[in-house]
Amino acid sequence: MQTELGAPVTVALTGASGAQYGLRLIEALVAADHQVWVMISKAAHLVIATETDRELPARPARLAEVLTERSGAAPGQIRCFGREEWMAPVASGSGAPSAMVICPCSTGTLSAVATGASNNLIERAADVALKERRKLILVPRETPFSAIHLEHMLALTRMGAVILPAAPGFYHQPASIDDLVDFIVARILNQLGIAHRLMSRWGEA
Ligand SMILES: Cc1cc2nc3c(=O)[nH]c(=O)nc-3n(C[C@H](O)[C@H](O)[C@H](O)COP(=O)(O)O)c2cc1C
Repeated sequence: MQTELGAPVTVALTGASGAQYGLRLIEALVAADHQVWVMISKAAHLVIATETDRELPARPARLAEVLTERSGAAPGQIRCFGREEWMAPVASGSGAPSAMVICPCSTGTLSAVATGASNNLIERAADVALKERRKLILVPRETPFSAIHLEHMLALTRMGAVILPAAPGFYHQPASIDDLVDFIVARILNQLGIAHRLMSRWGEA
């Protein structure tokens, strides 16, 4: 692996609509020369197959190969972990990166994170991020939201997590779906403090 790569960022895709946001985020982090540690839930695999023209392999080693190829990542820049890979670094405060993004975030995973369920590696990694007071960004997509969803979002915000709904603005006059996707990915990168050229910031030319 190249030693000049930036710190790892954990990216988890769960089974909410909007797989494109997560896949584009991985590409953008690779382009920004960060290591990306990826987890994809079983439901997310189904959503990816439904919403995109590709199916991704379930086996983490093969998944890493495919994501590396499609994003042009350097060898080792992308690592993938399985649903119950409890020995993975993200499962412990001593090994987990300083930032994790769940994008898109299903209301199921939102609930599990808010209540500390830790029943799979995605939920455990988020639990670690919360207990270690690290950056945790959740990108929920559902409409309308129930009181359960809203209460979980408020609870997570109060714990220090960032709720960044998949709700792109239209004031930049998007010409394509890619523009809408980039709107959200740019907001996530802003939260992570990672420079990008996806969209100019408000007030910039
Ligand atoms: C095509 C498709 C779209 C879905 N869209 C959403 C959604 O937008 N938001 C949501 O919270 N759940 C959505 N679901 C349901 C979740 O995938 C389901 O609740 C699942 O148990 C979530 O599991 P996970 O959190 O482990 O990924 C969708 C499921 C499918 C198959």
